[in-house]
Amino acid sequence: VTAEKGGFDHFMLKEIHEQPKAYRDTMLGRIDASGRKVVLPGLKLTDDKIRSINSIHVVACGTAYHAGLVGGTAIEQLVRVPVAFDVASEYRYRSPLITPETLVIVVSQSGETADTLAALREAQANGAHVLAVTNVVGSSIARDADDVIATLAGPEIAVASTKAYTSQLIAFYLLALYMAQVRGTKSPEEVAHVIAAMQSLPEQVESMLANTDAIKTYAEQIAKHEHLFFIGRGLDYAVVQEGSLKLKEISYIHSEAYAAGELKHGTLALIEEGIPVIALATQDSVLEKTVSNIKEVKARGADVMAITHEEHVAGLLRSVDQAFAIPQTLPLLTPALSVVPLQLLAYYASLERGNDVDKPRNLAKSVTVE
Ligand code: G6P
Repeated sequence: VTAEKGGFDHFMLKEIHEQPKAYRDTMLGRIDASGRKVVLPGLKLTDDKIRSINSIHVVACGTAYHAGLVGGTAIEQLVRVPVAFDVASEYRYRSPLITPETLVIVVSQSGETADTLAALREAQANGAHVLAVTNVVGSSIARDADDVIATLAGPEIAVASTKAYTSQLIAFYLLALYMAQVRGTKSPEEVAHVIAAMQSLPEQVESMLANTDAIKTYAEQIAKHEHLFFIGRGLDYAVVQEGSLKLKEISYIHSEAYAAGELKHGTLALIEEGIPVIALATQDSVLEKTVSNIKEVKARGADVMAITHEEHVAGLLRSVDQAFAIPQTLPLLTPALSVVPLQLLAYYASLERGNDVDKPRNLAKSVTVE
């Protein structure tokens, strides 16, 4: 590997900082000159085909799967087609209902993950159109898929994926908007509104990366713990699953990500005095419900840190021990911002524990065996 760390201590930190550029590059040429319409040059999926799709399967592994959770939700919300999510190693074995009217979206940074490639083949064998979201255009998955939406994150070296994940989110948002245009499920004004918000994301990430001291201090605090929990609802739940994976991968702290409302159905038994709970609370429509769940863990002694929009910080501070603000954006786009402090949290916790941040034990950048 000849890639350099560009002045950063680790590839992971470099790649976290490359996210604004990755967002811009992934949007480049895919929004028309008016800034109101998504264009996807080279897409083989015809408008007729897009209109005929009656179900969508999103299939991937690891971090790419987590991007798929957010992306598939965006498609379901904007396009109103049912979306199912599978980890690739399970997909084939549950006899999924795949027809020629199914669009299967496989997500893979490397394009070489064996389980994802096998899922792609299973889908094609059943007549589905397979669209790959991948970062490597010459990869096996890119070659075999019927369509490719490339993420333009540039080479990702650190085993723990960061800029590939966020670029996958951008690719999904573009695809969701494109399909909504074709099917007419969103008005041109609504599409333009989402695009405008997307175009602000790179700068918003830059503003978050300009001051990371508070998250570093918090990471040093949690590095002493062996167990912790993440909670969130809706898209926040999808994002905390990624935050929890990131933390496990490189800090080796055991963490679980829970749908905030599900905690009381068993896992609440594990909440004890002093245990850290990280609550992602950015989705306004369920904020009050998340606050109730925060109170449940607080009452059992948890030490709660919340991540929310600026306007909610003061309110949340009545229920939590500390709160971090992220910039304001549309609820649907929030994952492209809210994951950043979680990436930094994992990075600094790993650093504090003296781990090999870029090359965690037992893990490989891409897994080519099933
Ligand atoms: C490996 C990596 C993960 C990655 C997963 C899927 O397990 O360690 O970081 O998310 O593979 O990789 P892919 O290249 O298909 O996105």
